[in-house]
Amino acid sequence: MKRPIAYIAGTGRAVPKQVVTNHDLEARGLETNDAWIVERTGIRQRYVAGEGESTRSLATEAARKAMAKAGVSAGEIDLIVVGTATPDRLLPSAACDIQAELGATRAGAFDVSAACTGFVYGCLVAEGMLATGTSETALVIGVEKLSSILNWDDRNTAILFGDGAGAAILRRSRGANAGKGILSTYLRSDGTLGELLWRPSGGAERPFGPDVLVDKSHFIHMAGREVFKHAVRSMAEATDRALDGAKLTASDIDLMIPHQANIRIIEATAKHAGISMDKVYVNVDAYGNTSAASVPIALDEAMQTGRLREGMTALLVAFGAGFTWGSMVVRF
Ligand code: UT7
Repeated sequence: MKRPIAYIAGTGRAVPKQVVTNHDLEARGLETNDAWIVERTGIRQRYVAGEGESTRSLATEAARKAMAKAGVSAGEIDLIVVGTATPDRLLPSAACDIQAELGATRAGAFDVSAACTGFVYGCLVAEGMLATGTSETALVIGVEKLSSILNWDDRNTAILFGDGAGAAILRRSRGANAGKGILSTYLRSDGTLGELLWRPSGGAERPFGPDVLVDKSHFIHMAGREVFKHAVRSMAEATDRALDGAKLTASDIDLMIPHQANIRIIEATAKHAGISMDKVYVNVDAYGNTSAASVPIALDEAMQTGRLREGMTALLVAFGAGFTWGSMVVRF
């Protein structure tokens, strides 16, 4: 089937009310400082969920905004794909929880477990569903409440992550929207590297027990330097493959929207791709790494602020635990 098959008809985002700055982390007694965090990551603050704010509530708010932008009602949505590593509960899926909140009763709903690449994976799945006719109108969400699985005493991880949600409505590229949409996709993973970034307990192999109070295995564990190296390599590969797939070059890209993990990873990816930083969307300073939510939050901001406009071509690229990585070129 000839692309584009699916286009992004509307986007939305939501973050918790509470902002936690680098100075706040320092003031709480974490052995770190603002200058180090800014220099090594580019992060200045992150949003952290408080009372009454959940994966479900953030995702629902982002989804409602995306639906309003796209002019789509809950009853029209026939597919909900949610990328998340932090569902409010392990059974049923976050997607089903969100479906219930939205009243999207016609939809099939499920989660995609691809960590920070979750939104990109979700869009790829949705595009496939639209291509087969299984779906006409899909809602794809990336959402995280990473604060719930962070060890706030571990400076390796506590400084990096934040909470938030981003959402997009995908529809068939037809009629007036015939030329718009996903031009190419690339999807990879390498499970042999899983334990460089993982959450050891909570699954069937190692359910939560009293041990977690001692071994902290219910929190995110990360080998930062190793993850960094793989992120740079994988994001570079993913940008190349997405451009090849679309038969485009770097000069055809109006805006690159990379996963917001670390400004140094973003800069290395842009340099490899030959895309100048003024064509790269960066908001890691304001949000930290929101994992699956990072690309759709940046996408929504770029659209709302006019950085990304109709007729432009964007390159979305992400990397995360698994390891997983993926990319797509999209014409808006
Ligand atoms: O979505 C994908 C998820 N994860 C990532 O993308 C993370 C990828 N990794 C990274 O972003 C970086 O590796 C980090 C930001 C996690 C760490 O930065 P780094 O430049 O790789 O630092 P490092 O671990 O090599 O540590 C350098 C020094 C060490 O001190 P010594 O041994 O040189 O004296 C650390 O103990 O910095 C120290 N350090 C810190 N100092 C202040 C490590 N973390 C901190 C901290 N505050 N938070």
